[in-house]
Amino acid sequence: MDPRFSVIDSRFSGINKIIAVSGGKGGVGKSSVSSMLALVLKDMGKSVGLLDLDFSGPSDHLILGVEDVFPKEEKGIIPPNVNGIEFMSIVYFTGKNPLPFRGEDYSNAIVELLAITRWGNLDYLIIDMPPGINDVALDVIKLIKRIEFIMVGNQSKLTIETLKKVIQMSKESKKKVIGVIENMVISGNDKEENKLLSIGVPFLGEIDFDEKYESSLGNVDKLLETKFAKDLKNIISLNTGLF
Ligand SMILES: Nc1ncnc2c1ncn2[C@@H]1O[C@H](COP(=O)(O)OP(=O)(O)OP(=O)(O)O)[C@@H](O)[C@H]1O
Ligand SMILES: [Mg+2]
Repeated sequence: MDPRFSVIDSRFSGINKIIAVSGGKGGVGKSSVSSMLALVLKDMGKSVGLLDLDFSGPSDHLILGVEDVFPKEEKGIIPPNVNGIEFMSIVYFTGKNPLPFRGEDYSNAIVELLAITRWGNLDYLIIDMPPGINDVALDVIKLIKRIEFIMVGNQSKLTIETLKKVIQMSKESKKKVIGVIENMVISGNDKEENKLLSIGVPFLGEIDFDEKYESSLGNVDKLLETKFAKDLKNIISLNTGLF
């Protein structure tokens, strides 16, 4: 057995809750919800870590405006504290270069990243998942025993079908799905029926499509002022038992 597997469990021992933000479909807002969730929980006084596991298209550093920081090596790697959030991403090692990964490379990189990262004592570790049901999703389920999922979705038939598969996979792996968040809701567009109410997991609430979100990217103070942040805070306070 890979000796790194036994180290991984101990790396998470100081973390209270590990939440992966997933959803299957690309572009539904997983990175935005992950980064904003980390930011909002931090703003609510919690200790938070954020791990970007999207090796092909890491985004969280752009959302949170992470620049010119590099992790410190000390019996492993200590995630830099960025705006009060312990933040880990492949981007520290790749910069702006694309990562020419194939199959096994992904699994190796995940095991390595999980085995070397020394998280502190945290209330929450939020994990930004890449799109798709792929090696990364399967590895994460296998390697992070206490992982729970929050799904991000919308009303599109195309999203819902993929979402149902990810939920089924999580449940079959005996991982808890905290619930689903509907993102990029256009207010005034009242839906006849909310399709996310019947996918077998709790509906946590809605985040509106926020026109100010794009111009706030990279600036945490501005991000915390957005309707996006307000909607997310509302979702957390409505579902305190689940978070
Ligand atoms: N509530 C929102 N209001 C406005 N724009 C949003 C909102 N949520 C996400 N976006 C925008 O939608 C796009 C997709 O968001 P994001 O990158 O977070 O999705 P993703 O699911 O992580 O994508 P990928 O599958 O590629 O990782 C981005 O341009 C983001 O800025
Ligand atoms: Mg993403």
